[in-house]
Formats: sequence, structure tokens, C-alpha cells
Amino acid sequence: MSGGPRPATADTWWLPRGVVALRERIFEKVNGDRTLTLPNATYGPEVFERVYAHPAANGRSAGAGLSDLFWYWLAPGPEVHQEHLEPGERYEDVAAVTRRILAGSSAGLAAAAGRAVGRVLDTVPDTRISLVRLRDLVMPAWAEFCYELVFEEPCPPHARDLITGHAEDVISALKCTGLRHMKRRARLTAYLRERVAAGDVPHELPASLSLPEQVHYLQGTFFNTAVVQLSEATAHVLLALARHPEVQQRVSASPDDDRYLTHVLDETMRLYPLFGIAHRITTGDIPLDEDTVLPAGSVVCFSYPGYHATGYDRPEEFDPHRWEALSAKDAHHIPFGVAANRPCPAWRLSPLVLRAAVREVVRRFRLDSTASHTRSIPHRAPCLLIPRGLSCEPRRLQALRSFVRVRDGVEDVTRGVRQLVLGTVMVLHARRQRPAVRYFEEHPAGRCPVARPEG
Ligand code: HEM
Repeated sequence: MSGGPRPATADTWWLPRGVVALRERIFEKVNGDRTLTLPNATYGPEVFERVYAHPAANGRSAGAGLSDLFWYWLAPGPEVHQEHLEPGERYEDVAAVTRRILAGSSAGLAAAAGRAVGRVLDTVPDTRISLVRLRDLVMPAWAEFCYELVFEEPCPPHARDLITGHAEDVISALKCTGLRHMKRRARLTAYLRERVAAGDVPHELPASLSLPEQVHYLQGTFFNTAVVQLSEATAHVLLALARHPEVQQRVSASPDDDRYLTHVLDETMRLYPLFGIAHRITTGDIPLDEDTVLPAGSVVCFSYPGYHATGYDRPEEFDPHRWEALSAKDAHHIPFGVAANRPCPAWRLSPLVLRAAVREVVRRFRLDSTASHTRSIPHRAPCLLIPRGLSCEPRRLQALRSFVRVRDGVEDVTRGVRQLVLGTVMVLHARRQRPAVRYFEEHPAGRCPVARPEG
């Protein structure tokens, strides 16, 4: 079994990898000299774990050039986003509301996810093979699911389209496959503002935020991050199944085998973590080893793919079987971050609803894909959906696969060039706008207080 990116064509396989490598380099360089990426050749996974969990690794935005990029891509300005907030009362207030909104019963959440995914699958013909992009297919389902979480009512098509349009725009910009379209964002903001002002949100929203900030908080956390992450994760796990027929066979033969499906999810998120890096700005000195101290004010980039590649046999292979003998909590496996330092608030919900989504898909379709599988899946995971029970002529399937392989190869090249151009444009634009720097100049009180030294 091979989990590494499969060459699109013999000559061009390096291009998507080249784009990813360049992006990582930009992330490191944009912060200047006081940046450390962990793990690295000197400081291994143990240092990664210790520094990530250190109380002084708590600065979130102020003081890192990288923050300008993330604020630009996600917000794109100083609007409230939970991920960007410095620790303190306002952050605690916001994080508590998120936890409350996400706290449904397991059965209720799984059923809602299954229904939402079922509705989008109802639109896929069951009498012929369909060629889809998995991320595009499932995004409207997660838009509806997240709308139901927030508003506790069924999602109208108008709202679903606004949410999907916005989430799609953000994730395309993050992957540098498209520029940001502010009108899409503004349309969703206006819609949410009307609903929040009318008192239509049945949850208590963070009292420390003004009404416009509450709107941005909902938009950023539930209609951007949640929709994007669930769509990306679903696309990854379905693409992994499409490329590994023996794993897919086992899942579809026993879709209720939670244990095996959990292993498939764990392995997918190990090899294709949704976060490439998470960064923190240190607010106190942190010892790296007996002789070296990481000074306050340093930017630490925690590399998820780097950490997830340590401590495993054949780390580059997609092998769900490895989890039979491993426990996720004892392995180098942090798909939702580290418990001690702002982990993902949806760490409980996400696996539950992803399992429900996968079950719904494999119950109805067999998946087949020759597309390359990389962490960033900028191609949005092209895949053939073959309705169960459809007798499919092998020659026709072969012809379709050949067509898709050639098309993906050509697209990989043109997309790679586009990513380089658009990425450069956006990085330069963000560096000119400097949204995070400007915000902290105007709101010095919003900066993270310097942590007291340990002991
Ligand atoms: C499979 C799906 C998901 C994965 C793999 C994932 C992964 C992550 C990771 C690794 C982090 C922490 C990064 C860090 O240390 O800075 C994070 C943070 C976050 N995630 Fe998720 N996430 C997922 C789904 C969601 C969903 C559904 C929501 C909906 C609310 C969400 C909201 C957030 C927020 C608000 C943060 C910032 C937490 C904070 O700083 O307090 N995520 N996520």
C-alpha cells in the first residue's frame, strides 16, 4: 500500500510538492530570524511535545509575521476569529460558547451528519458512474450541518449557498488556488448580522463581544473553519478509500465496525493532517535542551506532518492496520492539536460525524480514484462514484479512469503555476496590509501578557 503522492505524469509529479515546499519555506521566512520549526534535525518529537505544551508557548497572533498571512486568509482583517485571539478573558468567553454549541449528544450529531450527507448524495445519479470532486460534493452538507448546530433549525438553500460560497473562497485562497472574493464574505456577514440582530440564534453568544464581533465569531468558527475542516477531512478519508480498494472493501462490508473506521480515520489524519503547521509566539523563555533556551518573543512553527512522521514504521505508507497495535493517545498523533495548548474544540464531534458521513457514502457508492493524494489536495479530490448494484462494464471503467488520470495530470501542472502566482500576490498583499501588526499597534492591551517563568 502506498500513501505517497502518485506521479500525475512522469515529468510533472514534482510540481505540487514543489509548491508545498515553497509554501512551508515562505511560512518560515516571513517571520524573520526568530523562528524555529519543530521537530527538526536537532530537536525531535519529545522537544516538539514539551514546547507545544509549555505555558509560555501561548502567544497566538501578536509578534509573528505569519499571523498577517493567516488573518488575511481567514478574516481577512482584525475581525474576531477564535483561532486568532490572544489568551485572556475574551478568549475564554468565546471558547466556552464554542464548546456549548458543539456539545450535542453523540447519536444526535451523527444522525444530523448522516442526514446532511444523505441529502447531497440524493443529488448524485444512481444509474450511472459520476465523476465528482469530493470536497465540492460534501461542502454543502457540512454547511447545512453547521447551520443546524448554530440555529437549531433546518438550513434553507439560500443560507447553504452563502455558507458554501464563503467557505469555498477561504479554502481556495489558503491553498493559493484562487484569490479572496470579499463580496462573498460580505454577503454571508450581512445575512448573519440580520439573523443575530433578530435574536434568531438560540445560543447565548459571547457577552464580551459587540454584535458585529459576535457575527464575525460565528462566521469564522462555524461557517468557515468548521465547514472547511469537515469538508477537507471527508475528502481525505474518501480519497484514501478510493485509492485503497482493500480498505474500502473492509469498510463497506462492515460499515458499523466503529473500531476499524476509527483506525482508517486515524491513519488518514496521521498521513494527511489538516494543519500543516500551527504557530505560537513565546511569551517567556523555554529551555530546548540543557544548554539552549528559546527566548521570549520567538515564533515556533509546529509541523504536524513532521511530527506525525516520527515514531512509526514506514511512516509514508497509508496503513490503517498499524492502529490495531497502537493507541492514538500513546502515538505521535495529534490531529486535533495538543490538550495543553488550545486544542480543537471539535475533537469529540469531528470523528463522530466523519464516521457517519463515510458510512452514508460507502453504503451507496463504490469509490475509485487515480488522483494523487497529498496533504493539501488542491485538486479537491477527483473521484468516480459507482452506484452500488450498478453492473459496470470493466472496459468503460478503465476508459473513465484513463480520462481522469490524463485530466488530473494536466490540471496538476496548470494549477501548480497558478498557485505560485496567486500565492505570491496574496503574500505580498497581506504583507502590505499587515492586518495583525496594525491591530496590535492600535490595541496594545490585546497583546498576550508575558508569562511568568516556570518554577
Ligand atoms: C476533522 C476536522 C478537524 C480537524 C482535524 C481540526 C484540527 C484542528 C487543530 C489541529 C487545531 C489546533 C491548532 C493549534 O494548535 O493552533 C484546531 C483548532 C481549532 N479548531 Fe479544529 N479541526 C477540525 C474541525 C473543526 C470544527 C468542526 C470546528 C468547529 C467549531 C473547529 C474549530 C476550531 C477552532 C475554533 C480552533 C481554534 C481553537 C483555539 O485556538 O482555541 N475545528 N483544529
